[in-house]
Amino acid sequence: METNVRPETMERITTKALADAFIEEQIALVRKQVGDKKVLLALSGGVDSSVVAALLIKAIGKQLVCVHVNHGLMRKCESENVVELFRGQLDANLVYVDATDRFLNLLAGVSDPERKRKIIGAEFINVFADEARKLEGVEFLAQGTIYPDILESQKQAEGKKAVKSHHNVGGLPEDLKFSLVEPVKLLFKDEVRVVGEALGLPHAMVYRQPFPGPGLGVRCLGAITRDRLEALREADAILRDEFDKAGLAEKVWQYFVVVPDIKSVGVKDESRYEGWPAIIRAVNTKDAMSATIEEIPYSTLHKITARITAEVEGINRVLYDLTPKPVGTIEWE
Ligand code: XMP
Repeated sequence: METNVRPETMERITTKALADAFIEEQIALVRKQVGDKKVLLALSGGVDSSVVAALLIKAIGKQLVCVHVNHGLMRKCESENVVELFRGQLDANLVYVDATDRFLNLLAGVSDPERKRKIIGAEFINVFADEARKLEGVEFLAQGTIYPDILESQKQAEGKKAVKSHHNVGGLPEDLKFSLVEPVKLLFKDEVRVVGEALGLPHAMVYRQPFPGPGLGVRCLGAITRDRLEALREADAILRDEFDKAGLAEKVWQYFVVVPDIKSVGVKDESRYEGWPAIIRAVNTKDAMSATIEEIPYSTLHKITARITAEVEGINRVLYDLTPKPVGTIEWE
C-alpha cells in the first residue's frame, strides 16, 4: 500500500485475528517489495522498531540486518535485553554496536539541551551509516514509522513549530540511498501493540513505556558526566523495579528519574555527604501533548527514596515532580 494516508475504511486492529490478517498481508507485500535483497533496520528496542523487526524476521528471515546502536544512554540492561531477545530468541541477524565512548566524548561539556539533542541525533546517524557502509547488498531501509509520525511531519511541513527537536532515525547521508520499507506506517500505537503481541513479542516489551530517542541524555541534565549518568541509570532501575512491584507500571503512562547537575549537603555515616537529588517524574497522558501527575502512594515513595539513597552512589535526596504539562514538558530537556 504505497500511500501515506490511512483510508477511512481501514478497520482498527483491535484483536489477534485482525492482527494476524494484517501480518499475513504485510509479509506478502514485503516479500514482493524486497525480493532477495537485504533490508537494514535500526533496532532501538522501542515498541515500533521491535514490532517491525519481528514482522520482517517472519517475512524475510536473515535478509533483515538489524543494527542496535548503544549510545551509552540506554536504561539499565536495555541493550543486553534487545540482544538477548532478537539474537538469542528470535535468531535475528543483529549487529550490536557499543558507541558509548563516541557519544559521551562528543557530549562532554555540552550543557545546552537542544545542542545535546542535535549531537545525539547526528551521531546516531553517523554510527548507523558507518555500519551500513560495511554491509553489502543492502537496498532497503526498514523503519518503524507509525501513523502519528506521519501526521506530525505533515504538521511540521505546514510550518507548525515543535517545542523540542525530537530525534528518531531519518536523514541518512547522500551516499546511502535506500528504498523504504515501512510496514506499520498506517497504524496507530495501540494497533502496533496488538500486532506485536500477535507476533509473539513479550507483553512487557510491547506495552513498555515510551523512551525518548536521546535516552537518559535528556534526563542527566546539563553537561553529562559518566558518574552522574551511572547514578541516574541505577536510580531509574530502582524506580522501575518498585513501580513493577507496586502494580503501578501498567497504570502510569511514563515514569522515570531525572538527575540535575546540582549538589546539596547531606549526612551519611555521621559524615558530611554531598550528593545529587534524584527527581521522580510519573505522568499520565493520552497523546503526550498534555499530561497529569499520578498520585503515588506515600508508602511507595518512601520505599523508593530509601532504596535510591541507600543503593545509589552519589544521590542523597529524592524529590517528586508535581508539575503537569503544560507548564512542564514531560522530559526535563
Ligand atoms: P515532552 O518532553 O516533549 O515529551 O513533553 C513528550 C513525549 O515524547 C517523548 N520524547 C521523545 N520521543 N524522540 C522520541 O522518540 C525524542 O527525541 C523525544 N523527546 C521526548 C517523551 O519521552 C514523552 O513521552
